[in-house]
Amino acid sequence: MAQRIFNFSAGPAVLPVPVLEEAREALLSFGNTGIGILEHSHRGKAFIKVLEDVDARFRELANIPSNYKILFLGGGASTQFYQVPMNLLTKADTADYLITGSWAEKASKDAKRFGKVHITCSSADRNFSYIPDTVAYSEAPAYVHYTSNNTLFGTQFKAPPTPPAGVPMICDMSSDMFCRPVDVSKYGLIYAGAQKNLGPAGVTVVIIRDDLIARGAVDIPAMLQYRTHAENDSCYNTPPCFSIYVVGLVLKWIQAQGGLAAMEARNEAKAGQLYAALDNSKLFKPTAAKTSRSLMNVTFVTGNEELDNKFVAFAKERGMDGLKGHRSVGGMRASIYNAFPSDGVEALVGAMAEFEAANPPA
Ligand SMILES: Cc1ncc(COP(=O)(O)O)c(C=O)c1O
Repeated sequence: MAQRIFNFSAGPAVLPVPVLEEAREALLSFGNTGIGILEHSHRGKAFIKVLEDVDARFRELANIPSNYKILFLGGGASTQFYQVPMNLLTKADTADYLITGSWAEKASKDAKRFGKVHITCSSADRNFSYIPDTVAYSEAPAYVHYTSNNTLFGTQFKAPPTPPAGVPMICDMSSDMFCRPVDVSKYGLIYAGAQKNLGPAGVTVVIIRDDLIARGAVDIPAMLQYRTHAENDSCYNTPPCFSIYVVGLVLKWIQAQGGLAAMEARNEAKAGQLYAALDNSKLFKPTAAKTSRSLMNVTFVTGNEELDNKFVAFAKERGMDGLKGHRSVGGMRASIYNAFPSDGVEALVGAMAEFEAANPPA
């Protein structure tokens, strides 16, 4: 097998090695069942136990109150862009969206198919390089939607926004779920595609409060009603079994690291080291405003596209992959999710210094 390298991919992204090792074992026989994890029926005892276990780990890690259901759905986070308004927005209502990046923009565009959308704030004027301070809510929104971490632009809310009292807050946490403690009771609904911080692609986790399940539209296809999945413990149809199983292993790994507060401390140390190197560099510049910097996706440029490409190739030669920035920002993006090792950050900081010494700015 080729040696594993430092994978800075924005997603699907690096997973903890012990998780991969345990999953590898389970491929041929899950526990002592003699049947591989990919081959178990979703209605059988073994898989139902997996579902119960992953549900319990979510609840324990984030202290999720009993009036919330945890659903494991297909369709990616992008399905939530329309499933949320399809269930919770009517033509007569307005939903409020905070526009801090392309994913938030996409979510708001889908919502317009179902009702009115009020844009409470936007950082589009500076290519989404900051999280706006001022948010102007509409009179009585059906809900408020925001994206906690903007994967492409390397910005992150330091704290959740504060919607008007009684208005459900909905959050796309796809790229920073469980990078730090989260107070689920502040939210009506949280969703996250698993493939960045929670596990493999294929499953989207939805944490939804009971009253929003009950309030959801009934005149839409069964598969798109949250109540269908809540009433059937995510087994109305065949769920993404393997992805759910691996999410359970990732949660077990997070617990073994000390839980969400420990994850936050690790992430702050890793991101802190990288931002400090960027702040001290004369060649590399971070693109996100200082107060909005993401712990998960660190975006930076040299200001010269050719030099950016040269650095990406330079890092690749030294065992670092996935550093090319998204085309909407350019430059580099180092995605350093929970499972990304700190020695990978050290390797990157070292490569940056070496590259800068060889390419001193004029
Ligand atoms: C914040 C955010 N939301 C939504 C998505 C879309 O997720 P999916 O590909 O699972 O539909 C992504 C993917 O990168 C993302 O980073």
